[in-house]
Amino acid sequence: MLKEIDTYKKISGERAAEFIEDGMIIGLGSGSTVYWMMKRLGDLVAKGFKIQGVPSSNRTERWAEEFGIPLTDFGSVQSIDLAIDGADEIDNRLNLIKGGGGSLVREKIVDALADKLIIIADESKMVTTLGNFPLPVEVVPFGWEVTARNITQLGCTPTIRQKNGEIFVSDNGNYILDCQFSDISNPKQLHSSLKSLVGVVETGLFIDMAELVIVGCNEGVSIVK
Ligand code: A5P
Repeated sequence: MLKEIDTYKKISGERAAEFIEDGMIIGLGSGSTVYWMMKRLGDLVAKGFKIQGVPSSNRTERWAEEFGIPLTDFGSVQSIDLAIDGADEIDNRLNLIKGGGGSLVREKIVDALADKLIIIADESKMVTTLGNFPLPVEVVPFGWEVTARNITQLGCTPTIRQKNGEIFVSDNGNYILDCQFSDISNPKQLHSSLKSLVGVVETGLFIDMAELVIVGCNEGVSIVK
């Protein structure tokens, strides 16, 4: 049986699949909420929908294979009709923190190409101000300690992400610094300060990208625009 939070993720993901139309190129986000959207998308494909997906992580690619969703790539498509992705935090202006699963760079490339970005999440992700969730920042492995020290100057404590006792390596072969800022009151400024540091590949701040958020909650879903 699903835990309450997983039920919220499921209803949010399944509701998002209702926005998918036959013939669309779909940006496939990453994370456990996206899993439910993709499962439903697999049902649509089985019913005859001619969909092509652009995956944002290796894990998403494996789920696409599992659910029979045809994939395409940036060499074959010029644009994406709709991207559906999860998030770790969402503020009331629909700015996001993403990258909890370590796929922020590919997610941002996919989401930025989409005509429309729908975010799916359980209600615990909604916040007034971003920053309680440590901001993932992808950095090149070479000299990551220097990059981390430079990030510290911006007012946070970066922690190198680890998995099973080893440094976590992203799908792009990079490292992730989880940066605990207590309060991100100006996400745009923080993003550009971080991006100006040598060694930083991308930040998990997704600003002015989401068009709507489908929030799974006790009452079903609520749509935030
Ligand atoms: C992956 O890197 C993240 O951006 C995910 O989209 C985010 O962590 C949401 O994941 P869940 O849907 O598993 O909560």
